[in-house]
Amino acid sequence: MSLWKYADRLPVEPLVTLEEGETPLIRSAKLPGDTWLKFEGANPTGSFKDRGMTVAVSAAMAEGAEAVICASTGNTAASAAAYAARAGLRCAVIVPDGKIATGKLAQALMHGADVIALRGNFDQALALVRELTDRHPIALVNSLNEFRIEGQKTAAFEVCDQLGGAPDTLCIPVGNAGNITAYWRGFQEYNASPHLHGYQAEGAAPLVKGEPVENPETVASAIRIGNPARWEEAMNAVTASRGEIRAVSDAEILDAYRRLAAEGIFCEPASAASVAGMLKYGSEGTTVCVLTGHGLKDPTTAIANAQPVVPCEPSLEALEKVVLR
Ligand code: F0G
Repeated sequence: MSLWKYADRLPVEPLVTLEEGETPLIRSAKLPGDTWLKFEGANPTGSFKDRGMTVAVSAAMAEGAEAVICASTGNTAASAAAYAARAGLRCAVIVPDGKIATGKLAQALMHGADVIALRGNFDQALALVRELTDRHPIALVNSLNEFRIEGQKTAAFEVCDQLGGAPDTLCIPVGNAGNITAYWRGFQEYNASPHLHGYQAEGAAPLVKGEPVENPETVASAIRIGNPARWEEAMNAVTASRGEIRAVSDAEILDAYRRLAAEGIFCEPASAASVAGMLKYGSEGTTVCVLTGHGLKDPTTAIANAQPVVPCEPSLEALEKVVLR
């Protein structure tokens, strides 16, 4: 089974699939209220991007494309690389130099994508690939691609099916604003209307500020974005759902990141923004927080924010000392 169980609501045939979707909805054991965690890290490449990529790459195949390209803070790159490999297509990914998490870089490289490190940020990378794909016959698989949104909307269907009805509130991190757009579309198609609470990182919060941020900065590298492509649709989703869009600090993101890990759930920092926002601003009724990517994507940030490793000499005495302390 996969998200293709919703094939009758999707615009293409499943030509390229890695059995994405059908991710766990886990009830939090420690967070306040009736709070559920949609663990998108359980997708094949470890993020929600696979939902959109299976549909976008299937569409590219149907159209006879030979290559796909994207700008990315890392997860889209990893997913595009994997689905392109699966499909036998060439893939190029443009990422901000030095600003993508190690796991994502490893994935894109291993799947054989051309990884291009732009001396600039995500917004510049996206502007450039848009121009490039206007001029050359390469399929753009960023969330500007409608097929991406179509695939990602299935997460909203799953949430409703898993809960046996719509949640009252859905909390979600917002970067380029494709995913919040997709959830809203999915909920509408399911005649559901939870309040959508979108959260941005304080140093990369254009939607909260109401203007683009030229030099976005945050520990949550996945959402280090200053000029979201789906700006208006995200704001429409928030308004129509009587939701909100707000900012959380890096410290609040890291606190939520550690709290989740302490109940056995490892997501990446950007994903923890959904929980950080819920903790900071509150939520109504049954609440689903979307955990967009797996914690293993970004081991560097994890190790920097956890307790230190304990060194030990190879003797029983020394071991007892550190274990029984
Ligand atoms: N969480 C994670 C882990 C992400 O990778 C992204 C976006 C988001 C949240 C935000 O989703 O952009 O649809 O609002 N990552 C993109 C990428 C930009 O290139 O991987 P959004």
